[in-house]
Amino acid sequence: LASAKQSIIKQCNVYQDYPVKGVGFLDISPIFMSTVDFDNVLTYWQHRFTNVDLVVGLEARGFVIGAAFAQKIGAPFMMIRKKGKLPGQCISEAYVKEYGADEFEAQVNALSKTSFPSDRKVNVLIMDDILATGGTLCASIELVRKLLSHNNVKEYKISTSLISSIKVLRGKEKIYEKYNDVSIDVIHEI
Ligand code: PRP
Ligand code: MG
Repeated sequence: LASAKQSIIKQCNVYQDYPVKGVGFLDISPIFMSTVDFDNVLTYWQHRFTNVDLVVGLEARGFVIGAAFAQKIGAPFMMIRKKGKLPGQCISEAYVKEYGADEFEAQVNALSKTSFPSDRKVNVLIMDDILATGGTLCASIELVRKLLSHNNVKEYKISTSLISSIKVLRGKEKIYEKYNDVSIDVIHEI
């Protein structure tokens, strides 16, 4: 954890008043420019999360993190996208985030060809860059739960993983209040 945290502190910058006045924006993109620092973070997650059956990445930066991690551990990767970007039948979930409202979608049949273990709980890991108010993460948890139930998966554990969280916005508390069975792992807090 310590070296993953160091890598994030070394690479990521905070931009004040972006995208709107009053918001401090933590830009994680420089981490992808350093193979060493990005791998420090991926390796931390590899030790932290075992037996992952499905990685879910949230648009947009959750795609980069999630796909890289899923491929590193040999797990399938599913995208949750902003409304109107995925073909076929989708389920959607509207939400409010730190700076505005949005809507997420997942394809109804995204998991239809995935075989999940039947002798233990199915482990799903949702990945994104930042936890602010928690609106984004809540909506994605809701979609994952609906998809799992659509696929008759009844025994599961949802874990979430973020690079950073903005403490004053109390996103963690919001998630824990709503879902007492979901875990949240954050490397760095501001
Ligand atoms: C940002 C960030 C998180 C979300 C957190 O995404 O990447 O996904 O906000 O906010 P919340 O906890 O208040 O919901 P955003 O939707 O702004 O844009 P992106 O498409 O670049 O990820
Ligand atoms: Mg986002």
